[in-house]
Amino acid sequence: MQLREAILGRHTTNGHFKPDPVSLEHQHRLMEAASRAPSHFNSQPWRFVLIDDDATRGQIAEIAGRTMHQLMAGGKFFTRYRRYFRFSKQEMAERRDGIFIDKLPGPLRPFVKHVFSETGQKVVNTLRVPNTLGKDNRKLVEGSPLLLAAMLTREEYREGELSGFYSLLGMGMAIENIWLTTLDLGMGIQFISTPMEFPEAWAELRELLQIPEELELIAMYRLGYLPDDAKRPTIDWTSSHRKRLSQYVFRNTCATPEADADPNFGEVPGS
Ligand SMILES: Cc1cc2nc3c(=O)[nH]c(=O)nc-3n(C[C@H](O)[C@H](O)[C@H](O)COP(=O)(O)O)c2cc1C
Repeated sequence: MQLREAILGRHTTNGHFKPDPVSLEHQHRLMEAASRAPSHFNSQPWRFVLIDDDATRGQIAEIAGRTMHQLMAGGKFFTRYRRYFRFSKQEMAERRDGIFIDKLPGPLRPFVKHVFSETGQKVVNTLRVPNTLGKDNRKLVEGSPLLLAAMLTREEYREGELSGFYSLLGMGMAIENIWLTTLDLGMGIQFISTPMEFPEAWAELRELLQIPEELELIAMYRLGYLPDDAKRPTIDWTSSHRKRLSQYVFRNTCATPEADADPNFGEVPGS
């Protein structure tokens, strides 16, 4: 696979994976890719847990589903993240950032614009959206043959210090290497971030994975091979647009936005 093709084709997998286990060879290819990322002074501050055991995956899925439900039912999600949501394809095409919920059950569609108001939240709860999302999330995680915990050593990840900042940069690059490698292996990957919204759930994960004091749990992912017929979850979103050059690049100083040479730059690849 060509590098550009991989970079433009990289995306989040919101749907199910094949149930087939991820081969050990492929798991190690992913870890090899992570290890080739740059790190300050070649410190390689990342550590990973590869989770393929049924019972542990089941427990993580329960935590993921529960926290998704909690996040959606409590109203925290809509107040905290409102600014990232777009309500039409046109809005998405103009701003070219954020998330557009493009798959919703029929009865919910008329409410989509009001979902961020107090009444909207009541409707969301009455229509049991948090239950649907929680159940979907649990099933998605449980059905993912490989889960991945990404950690940093506390020796390097020291908050407020440059080494802490450098470690996070390095970790981001290691994850991107993993992500790009999934494309080469016919796999997909998705963040599992909802447990991070609740410190007690994050602590549960730490305990479950027996993470020692000297390591900090940074992020969780679910991975697997992509199915031939990808079925989308009941409620789903798209975020494939990217900004035009003039919206995020400058020439020489920040006073001069870069000119847009290609009118299709930032369009959804392949569309
Ligand atoms: C720090 C971070 C946390 C994220 N958390 C989630 C998450 O919990 N669930 C999810 O589906 N995607 C999550 N994402 C993925 C973004 O939503 C996604 O990358 C973005 O919308 C662009 O879509 P794409 O990856 O398909 O190009 C996260 C990304 C980052 C960098």
